[in-house]
Amino acid sequence: MTEISDQPALLLKNVRYSYQPEHAPVIDIPLWEVPTGTSIFLRGASGTGKSTLLNLLSGMLVTNEGNLSIAGIELSQLSARQRDRFRAQHIGVVFQQFNLIPYLSVMDNVLLAAQFGSRGSNDIRAKAEALFSQVNIHKDLYGQQAQSLSIGQQQRVAIVRALLNSPDILLVDEPTSALDEANRDAFMSLLLKIVKEEKASLVLVSHDTTLSRYFETTIELSAINCPHSSPQEQAAREGRL
Ligand SMILES: Nc1ncnc2c1ncn2[C@@H]1O[C@H](COP(=O)(O)OP(=O)(O)OP(=O)(O)O)[C@@H](O)[C@H]1O
Ligand SMILES: [Mg+2]
Repeated sequence: MTEISDQPALLLKNVRYSYQPEHAPVIDIPLWEVPTGTSIFLRGASGTGKSTLLNLLSGMLVTNEGNLSIAGIELSQLSARQRDRFRAQHIGVVFQQFNLIPYLSVMDNVLLAAQFGSRGSNDIRAKAEALFSQVNIHKDLYGQQAQSLSIGQQQRVAIVRALLNSPDILLVDEPTSALDEANRDAFMSLLLKIVKEEKASLVLVSHDTTLSRYFETTIELSAINCPHSSPQEQAAREGRL
């Protein structure tokens, strides 16, 4: 059997997605591969499809066409239920708005992510505490409602939640738009350090060009995504003409 770690973190071939069948695709990616263990900054202007692409990569949206595999698993072959389970076990997501549940405590927000994971409950609490300590969230905050935290603290809780099940890949959407420069710097350094320690791959999307200095690899979304190509160009690309 092929080991999951032998496979690229991400492999996309002729992936297309449009929100409505009659509309032009928002995402049209002929080929994109991300090797395991790499951290990638994907930069793109507002409205160019960054969040849509992350939703496809996390299996929350399903491609209309093409092949999209994560760690060697083709997402379109999975049922909705299998995709949810696969996401919980292999993919960590930090959303543009963090998506913490405001009235739940910090610890409960994080432990919710363990529901579909494969670890036992003692083990998972220990992992949560270890991650909280890495991101400087003190024990005193565990019982506080998520809504009482600062934006920077909420962001760090969202990272802990995303890393709880030791994902192969972490997807992070526009994380620094609400932060000043000092906090942005602290956040980015911390994120990259933790991702390395956890041996995860990272895809971070943002419009903010200055984030590229934290990454070895920066890719312009427009270099891999060509949503305006004509049907003839698409056919030629796929060798059908
Ligand atoms: N649920 C939806 N239904 C229909 N169209 C959508 C939906 N979500 C996004 N779009 C459209 O898809 C395109 C890409 O949107 P997306 O949110 O992926 O961009 P983005 O690069 O993440 O933008 P931003 O930097 O502002 O977050 C936009 O034209 C948007 O209007
Ligand atoms: Mg977005």
